[in-house]
Amino acid sequence: MKVRIGLIGCGVVGTGIVHLLAQNGERIAQRDGVELEIAKILVGNKDKPRKGVDPALVTDRLEDLLEDESISMVLEAMGGVDPGLSYAQACLRAGKHYITANKELMAKHWEELNAAAREGNVTLSFEASVAGAVPVIRMLTGSLRPNNITSVMGIINGTTNYILSQMDQFGTGYKAALAKAQELGYAEADPTADVEGFDAAYKLCILCGLAFGARVKVDDVLREGISKLSAMDIEMAHELGYVIKLLGIGKQHNGGVEARVHPVMIPKTNPLASVGGPFNGVLIGADAAGDLMLYGRGAGDLPTASAMVSDAINVAQGKAAELVEFTPAPVVNDFSCGYYIRTLAADTPGVLHGVSGIFAKHGVSIESCVQKGQGESAVPLIFVTHKSREADIVRAVAEIDQLDYISIGSVIRVEK
Ligand SMILES: NC(=O)c1ccc[n+]([C@@H]2O[C@H](COP(=O)([O-])OP(=O)(O)OC[C@H]3O[C@@H](n4cnc5c(N)ncnc54)[C@H](OP(=O)(O)O)[C@@H]3O)[C@@H](O)[C@H]2O)c1
Repeated sequence: MKVRIGLIGCGVVGTGIVHLLAQNGERIAQRDGVELEIAKILVGNKDKPRKGVDPALVTDRLEDLLEDESISMVLEAMGGVDPGLSYAQACLRAGKHYITANKELMAKHWEELNAAAREGNVTLSFEASVAGAVPVIRMLTGSLRPNNITSVMGIINGTTNYILSQMDQFGTGYKAALAKAQELGYAEADPTADVEGFDAAYKLCILCGLAFGARVKVDDVLREGISKLSAMDIEMAHELGYVIKLLGIGKQHNGGVEARVHPVMIPKTNPLASVGGPFNGVLIGADAAGDLMLYGRGAGDLPTASAMVSDAINVAQGKAAELVEFTPAPVVNDFSCGYYIRTLAADTPGVLHGVSGIFAKHGVSIESCVQKGQGESAVPLIFVTHKSREADIVRAVAEIDQLDYISIGSVIRVEK
């Protein structure tokens, strides 16, 4: 079966799709019976030279895709919500199946896209929007359907994982590790979306929608990035037997869901601790299947193209997943975990007594306390707590920070 496709965007991922089809298109046609042919490519600047791309296919008019009735599906690798949303709606309403790598669009406008897909009586697929080549969406919408999914937890941003791996392995400071990531093309010139956790938050919204049917809005995700982590915290984590990772965490919680993205200290024995460099890893908790872990390349031209073309094959074969039906489930970020609290304290008697009194008052119990150095006027004093409620920690830390002989340096959650 020949399927003519429209491509929106021909940058890193779009070019990857062109190259992947050139490389494996024939094999796909023979094995899957689907001959994917690129009919038109919509870009911002049609005069830009593009290696391996037939200039005759390139256009800067969306209408050229919309009006071509031979195009039955559109693959979007452009990014952004403006004009991403209007392009997607136009294609879906025009009856073209839509396959996107655009996590921001999915996270912010999922309902509108579903509505447009219903209007056009077509499918919406987005495997590439979370964890690139790692088939986490296929797993949630396919193999794990018989399960009650209780949690999804993972490293879903390769840029921050690369930066943290550099800091962990070589003792590099945050700024130097970010500069290296930019030099290697893992981080953008403006790294905000990655390092402040927005990108991971978009992906977490998608995962929560698929795993729990919960429509988690981006603003409801508890989000903290990695830009404030210090080399000292990374070193201390090591000493204490942990590794710091930026995790996206979604869990069922008393009829609602927890949805959070933040740095977490995880034991070195946790399978996610060994996910290094730009790689992604996702742990899924499922009641029947048990725990599963997926690992692989979360970005890059061919890995991302692989996920999108796999969606295209599924759509052509009539195997696309149904549109997600959401069930009401509020985001409840009232959770408990361990906490690492680094302070800078006067090296004088009575400090520990004062601080432990405040922790006790808020119901926080201390597992360990380490003082680094002595004899100086102020020394790092590090506390690790037993499992505590986030709200209690927030109150205790605020009160401790008011004291004149101690100040809070950092607070990092610990998952045991
Ligand atoms: N890069 C990855 O590894 C990766 C991984 C997973 C998901 N994604 C997602 O994939 C999408 C694309 O990422 P990318 O890295 O390939 O981006 P990119 O390299 O910046 O490419 C963007 C493409 O979109 C085109 N474009 C921009 N504005 C346009 C407009 N108004 N109308 C038509 N075309 C327009 C650009 O045209 P010109 O070429 O003319 O500038 C370019 O070809 C994003 O949603 C991203 O989040 C990327």
